[in-house]
Amino acid sequence: MPIIAPSLLSANFLQLQKDCDMLNASEADWFHLDVMDGRFVPNISFGPMIIEFFRKATNKICDVHLMIEEPGNYAEAFKNAGADILTVHLEACTHLHRNIQQIKGLGMQAGVALNPHTPVALLKDVLADIDLVCLMSVNPGFGGQTFIPNTLHKITELKAMIESQSLSVKIEIDGGVTMENAASILKAGADVLVAGSTVFKSADQIATIAALKAL
Ligand code: DX5
Ligand code: ZN
Repeated sequence: MPIIAPSLLSANFLQLQKDCDMLNASEADWFHLDVMDGRFVPNISFGPMIIEFFRKATNKICDVHLMIEEPGNYAEAFKNAGADILTVHLEACTHLHRNIQQIKGLGMQAGVALNPHTPVALLKDVLADIDLVCLMSVNPGFGGQTFIPNTLHKITELKAMIESQSLSVKIEIDGGVTMENAASILKAGADVLVAGSTVFKSADQIATIAALKAL
């Protein structure tokens, strides 16, 4: 069964309690929380203060996706805010290994995200040190974009790398996941589906999450 991680970026921020209650009552596994700094990506979302509110609103895993420059400066703040998984972008980390060690040292699970143009082969020498790879299937910064089909090849290649090293690293797909393409994403080898607009723009959000979970 896939792990379903709805992205709160697409939630209604004037009724976050209601949206959190809906997710808590649903089969969603994780809260996917997108942090944007207006530098690494051309959009600004929210930071540790808001994550702290989500932490108090759920017992589910808080999966924090940092789309920010210099993530090392903020890892501790996100730990204190209640992040369970902290994912940094390879493209934002000159000293990626150090960032991973820092996240693990703080007691969080460590994820590395790749932009659509970044080859999965670049992960070879850190794969054994991480818990999650987040493959961006859109250019990060906004919800509601269209899935980039080349991601399917990247999933297959990454899955083979993980299996060849006998690792249990999870593959998370983030961006443009729909009811139409989710099955092929899972067939290619993904473990975690992030879904923003597909969940929050659907008429029956709980049923949509259940349908994704049943794939
Ligand atoms: C994009 C974010 C995604 C986004 C996904 O930069 O990382 O998590 O919210 O939204 P959808 O599912 O609508 O593409
Ligand atoms: Zn994300």
